[in-house]
Amino acid sequence: MNDQALQSTDLQADTGRLLGRIQTLGLVGALEGGGVCRLALTDADREGRDLVHGWMRELGLATRVDQIGNVVGIRQGAEDSAPVMIGSHIDSVATGGLYDGALGVLAGLEAVQTLNDAGITTRCPVAVGFFTNEEGARFAPDMMGSAVHQGSLPLVEALETVGTDGQSVGSELDRIGSSGDAPVNELVPRAYLELHIEQGPVLEESGTTIGAVTGVQGISWTEFQFSGVSNHAGTTPMRLRHDAGYVASAVAVEARAIATRLGGHQVATVGVTELGPNLVNVIANQARVTVDLRNTSDSELVLAEARMADFVESTAASEGVELQQRTLARFSPVEFDPQIVGLIEAAAGRYGCSCQRLPSGAGHDAQMFAPNCPTGMIFVPSQGGISHNVTEFTSKEDIAAGMNILMQVLTELSG
Ligand code: GLV
Ligand code: MN
Ligand code: MN
Repeated sequence: MNDQALQSTDLQADTGRLLGRIQTLGLVGALEGGGVCRLALTDADREGRDLVHGWMRELGLATRVDQIGNVVGIRQGAEDSAPVMIGSHIDSVATGGLYDGALGVLAGLEAVQTLNDAGITTRCPVAVGFFTNEEGARFAPDMMGSAVHQGSLPLVEALETVGTDGQSVGSELDRIGSSGDAPVNELVPRAYLELHIEQGPVLEESGTTIGAVTGVQGISWTEFQFSGVSNHAGTTPMRLRHDAGYVASAVAVEARAIATRLGGHQVATVGVTELGPNLVNVIANQARVTVDLRNTSDSELVLAEARMADFVESTAASEGVELQQRTLARFSPVEFDPQIVGLIEAAAGRYGCSCQRLPSGAGHDAQMFAPNCPTGMIFVPSQGGISHNVTEFTSKEDIAAGMNILMQVLTELSG
């Protein structure tokens, strides 16, 4: 390696190579008919971790696995200082696509390989990381590994978290051999970058190639459990029912109504409804629903949460149904570093790519880093605005553009 100065046009990443790795990782946990299921800390996640960790070693990175299973590979710089970190996740929802998370991690590896091939030593080190359980679909909250890494979630609390299948994070980390020795808060990056698919319709609708992400909206996940009385569906008069299924269904309808009435950036999703005993002619005595509320404004989000809570309490009370609730995740909106947003825009300009500023609707590991170090995200368009769906797709051209912008910003930040 030598210390040659970097010019913006010197370094061309190999998009074919990057896509090759995305496809290869996409074979791990592959679903019939496309897409992947690599829920956090399952056997498929372990296989994905081994594959990507192996690639890190092949590229000469010094790797470390921390106590929550985050894996970070470090490429030395001329100075022994804090690294510029590129990161994301390789776990998926159960019906995931090939790009969510994987793009950011594998783009980091492509950046390293491009630097290696060019024989360049950056001034400060470059780190590439993947963070445990970004999705939160098996273990809530989401962004768990990066939250622990950045000190906003205590390690013990994360390890004790019990998932949807009754297993704990700690026991599953041990089972798949991903529980490392490195202390979770040791590695403090000088800056954090994440390339990600937009997962929404904004860039495609405006015909824009690059999103300079201004921040991430607030996220609120609550689980409500209702206990009523099972009884005969034919004989029980409506006035005598304690129907947990009715209350759960009313919550789902009200969540939509709250978002519609508030308008603006408010969104609401009931992604889980479970009824028990779940029989056609038996009034449900058990129901569980999850409510996902998000807004770019924290005060609006607090308002939506309060309206939801009032509705749930009054509906459960009037039906004579017992209510239990717990917060699964709560993150305030975050803003990304204006200078990095500007660097992304400038780099897009140099490459002749259209670029627009936008907030992220999805949660990302980057939001955990934002309070502690200059942080930025680059978005590329999602075909049809589709994500968390096996048909998720981003074109090679758009990935190439995003990769080039990442490379530019990385070289500027790492010197
Ligand atoms: C994570 O991907 C989320 O935004 O739910
Ligand atoms: Mn993601
Ligand atoms: Mn996701």
